[in-house]
Amino acid sequence: MNAQQGGALPFIDLAAQRERLQPGLNEAIARVLAHGGFINGPEVKTFERELADFAGVAHAIGCGNGTDALYLPLLAHGLGAGDAVLVPSFTFVATAEVVVLTGATPVFVDVDADTFNVTADSMKAGIAEARRAGLRPRAMIPVDLFGLPADYDAINALANAEGMFVIADAAQSIGGSRAGHRVGGLATITSTSFFPSKPLGCYGDGGAILTNDDDLAEQLRSLRAHGGGKDKYDNIRVGVNSRLDTLQAAILSCKLAIFEDEIRVRGRVAARYNASLPSDVTTPRIFNDAVSAWAQYTVRVKKRDAVAADLKAKGIPTAVYYPKPLHLQQAYRGFPVASGGLAVSERLADEVLSLPMHPYLDEATQDRIVEGMRSAVNA
Ligand SMILES: Cc1ncc(COP(=O)(O)O)c(C=O)c1O
Repeated sequence: MNAQQGGALPFIDLAAQRERLQPGLNEAIARVLAHGGFINGPEVKTFERELADFAGVAHAIGCGNGTDALYLPLLAHGLGAGDAVLVPSFTFVATAEVVVLTGATPVFVDVDADTFNVTADSMKAGIAEARRAGLRPRAMIPVDLFGLPADYDAINALANAEGMFVIADAAQSIGGSRAGHRVGGLATITSTSFFPSKPLGCYGDGGAILTNDDDLAEQLRSLRAHGGGKDKYDNIRVGVNSRLDTLQAAILSCKLAIFEDEIRVRGRVAARYNASLPSDVTTPRIFNDAVSAWAQYTVRVKKRDAVAADLKAKGIPTAVYYPKPLHLQQAYRGFPVASGGLAVSERLADEVLSLPMHPYLDEATQDRIVEGMRSAVNA
């Protein structure tokens, strides 16, 4: 039974991508096994150069995962007790966790219901709350949720006016753009993840930081390697061990070669969903000048859990990103929340539903998902 006839569908079809890339992947993996430079092998530098060129920035600094890609720039800026970092509540936990690990305080802000992203206005409410709580507002971490780059023109302008710095959490959005400028160059610092299910995913953990700032790039390269100076036995600052493995870098170079094409196809899949899903489903909105990386295709729907259960019974997998906003999580309940509360984040947690989204989703399979959705919302 094929997917169109009613077999269980994959949520993300990594096998189809692997088949497409198999000869190149085999060659790349065999090459690394043969030279044996598993740590800091030549493939790491090659991939860092390719990624920087792809994003149109001076530096890409590979690291162990997307969480470290957020943590390392906070370390570079010396964040600590008394500092506030504004983060959305409607995101993956890593965005806030790294702030707490530095000793600084996350201040949770709300998101826009249509784009799922923070706005400059929501950040303003966070700055006011940080000051009210006696904290120094030092940084903002907008998240490009589900692949859509946030409104960096407005956010960067606010950060400049307030003397704050911005780290774009682009774990989900690498490959996207705003007004022709690719993610990586939209903020001074951009952090991304190569978790396997991300648009540019490897076969394990991996991450990278992108920047045009030469001094910051040098600090980040030192921080990811135990705070090394001329080598790792010359320790000029306190750092961590966070490396992108050579094998993962070799795999990522293969995947980057087809990434532009995959992003284009993801856009086509999303446009087709937008045009064909029934009107009782609220489809995602993106900015006119934006290309989303469509890490997730996320709709809003009433009676979400019943709809998801109905789809599951039909062999159609879905996911809920995210079922509980961070300000309501046990570990994060004690941190400040922007004045006015986070009503949108709380509502979205009850309504969001992500549908299968990947560049290998053929039209017949997509039609089956759309039909499944139509009958599930009418059940
Ligand atoms: C928004 C966001 N930030 C950070 C991360 C952390 O990335 P990683 O899992 O590679 O540490 C993820 C992904 O898992 C994410 O979705």
